[in-house]
Amino acid sequence: MKSIHFFISIILFIPGMLFGNGSSAGGQLPVPPVLEGKELKLDIRQGELELPFGTSKTLGFNGSYLGPTIRLSSGDLADISITNSISENTTVHWHGLHVPAEFDGGPHQIIPAGGSWNPVFAIKQSAATLWYHPHLMGQTAEHVYRGLAGMFIIDDDYSKSLDIPKDYGMNDIPLIIQDRRIGRDGSFEYNPGGPDIMMGYIGNAVLVNGAYKPELDLKKGTYRFRILNGSNSSIYRVTFSDKHRFTVIASDGGFLPKTVQTDQLVMSPGERYEILIDFTKKAETKIALDIMGGNSHEIMTINTSRETGSYFEHPAALKYDHPDYSAKNLTKRVFNMETRGMGVFTINGQKMNMDRINFSLNQNSEEIWTVRNIGMGMMNIPHSFHVHDTQFTVLSLNGQPPGPLYAGPKDTILLFAGETAEIGVSFRDYTGVYMYHCHLLEHEDSGMMGQFMVE
Ligand code: C2O
Ligand code: CU
Ligand code: CU
Repeated sequence: MKSIHFFISIILFIPGMLFGNGSSAGGQLPVPPVLEGKELKLDIRQGELELPFGTSKTLGFNGSYLGPTIRLSSGDLADISITNSISENTTVHWHGLHVPAEFDGGPHQIIPAGGSWNPVFAIKQSAATLWYHPHLMGQTAEHVYRGLAGMFIIDDDYSKSLDIPKDYGMNDIPLIIQDRRIGRDGSFEYNPGGPDIMMGYIGNAVLVNGAYKPELDLKKGTYRFRILNGSNSSIYRVTFSDKHRFTVIASDGGFLPKTVQTDQLVMSPGERYEILIDFTKKAETKIALDIMGGNSHEIMTINTSRETGSYFEHPAALKYDHPDYSAKNLTKRVFNMETRGMGVFTINGQKMNMDRINFSLNQNSEEIWTVRNIGMGMMNIPHSFHVHDTQFTVLSLNGQPPGPLYAGPKDTILLFAGETAEIGVSFRDYTGVYMYHCHLLEHEDSGMMGQFMVE
């Protein structure tokens, strides 16, 4: 067997990971089970997660940590019965999904402790790798951190017709990447101090699908990874140890019009990419995370055997349909994301207020939003702007046409201090209240969020 390691880098703030390097902790990569069909059931539970350092008290959907991968097709009706079996209120939000506001699962749709919630909505969007997680006002970060997150995959006729790897868990593999801060007792818990609110609650160990340094044994062949940065605030550079090149076929909300060949991806919390990568028995790669400044940490090892599986062509172009944002009369809005002091995060000078709708817009309209990260002195505090209910089109980044990784559907965009993105958003079918916010969850919980009404 040859070893391949998958690396990721944490781009910001980490002085050094306690558990970053050294020998692999072993254990096969866990792959979340699939949840599909007409009536889906999610139960929010308490659990425990065992890691090489110790055991942590966690939360999970239908299990101890994370949740099943929900899988539905465009045109299906999602009918999801959620029971909340923990002693705290929470919510479940469908990140990246186009859903009626009442079923969005934002801070307004509280599932009380011991209660239940049954959102029912049609899947009205094309194939994509999305996810779900709690969104309770002020407690999103903690609930996600303790383990409440899962993938949500949508297929459509086009994705089913493509000749690319699509055998879930076999050659189409989800990778949910999350850092956790392992304490002296070997467990992780959510306990942020002032600097953690400012910089994000950054970990010292990185989990993939809830495992520390797992191994993945593969045949030779082409594999598809669906990568989600499910971390609270860490920004990663994902690379393979041998600078193995791969093809990026999809961003947050679906396929890229032109696929991108690269050897690295930068991912902020909430973002997803799908990649295709070929392994031969000569390949030697680890998946790694990189801290800004080039400090790489191995997070997973891929071992390729002599056996040959299937190779696939990497498509050069894929289908991406989006609204036309070229009309001159579209409504424009500006969103200034600003750090106003220790732990004070605002958008357009305001902190989130549940009782205030920040603006209204018309249903079935396109708009152009300019989103800026206003820096704060010398501190380069990044923000990751996310909007509910829509997949947006990046029209420009810092005044330039966006690069090819930003040419597909997105719902979350990373902006370092001083950066500006212009995005085209569209709202169809539904009316009601949706959120926009920074997806660095410590910032979101500290008020870097707002709400708008589609009417
Ligand atoms: Cu992934 Cu408003 O959230
Ligand atoms: Cu969302
Ligand atoms: Cu932020």
